Amino acid sequence: MSFVVAIDGPAAAGKGTISKAVAAHFGFAHLDTGLLYRAVGAKVIAGAEPIVAARALDPVDLENERLRTPAVAQAASEVAVIEEVRAALVAFQRSFAARADGAVLDGRDIGTVICPEADVKLFVTASAECRAERRFQELSDKGTDTTFETVLADVKQRDARDQSRAASPLIPADDAILLDTSDLTAAEAVAAAIKVVEAAR
Ligand code: C5P
Repeated sequence: MSFVVAIDGPAAAGKGTISKAVAAHFGFAHLDTGLLYRAVGAKVIAGAEPIVAARALDPVDLENERLRTPAVAQAASEVAVIEEVRAALVAFQRSFAARADGAVLDGRDIGTVICPEADVKLFVTASAECRAERRFQELSDKGTDTTFETVLADVKQRDARDQSRAASPLIPADDAILLDTSDLTAAEAVAAAIKVVEAAR
């Protein structure tokens, strides 16, 4: 049986950094499930129909730096409300989780819907202002022309859509451990997550 770590939480809470570090530390595979929705969102921007795009999704579609833009993030959260889109992406995520060497999956519904039997469930949060500040820094470092206010509005809009949708809303699993990274450095957040996984091994 694979050892599965589910890491959920809102946009820019630190899930990506934590997931990559946990996977590297334990030698587990890592799947950023947001990329699946971003890949579908990018295809929709290019004119595809969402359900058709989700059903035809190929893993090579995920290796694309252009999926990391705010426009694609918005498109991703719009397609993510469609139940058939979500359903089309379940099998890929579950088979990834079944990898014998252990797997870390991060997203919004890993602990609640995709892997309800995960060995460890972490729900990573931070205030909207902290998350927007981090995302703003990231985008600015990449040379994206934006403002803190735009990024904050974008983060809040995606949070609201992710939390209020009927299909697999963003919500902590009953047995998830909450990790608020607002006042933690990346290194501190990673150390806290590794400790939780270590305790469950
Ligand atoms: O995590 P990331 O910001 O890349 O996700 C983009 C969007 O994809 C989210 O705002 C959310 O709407 C959707 N998503 C989802 N379920 C997941 C991962 C992402 O609904 N497991």
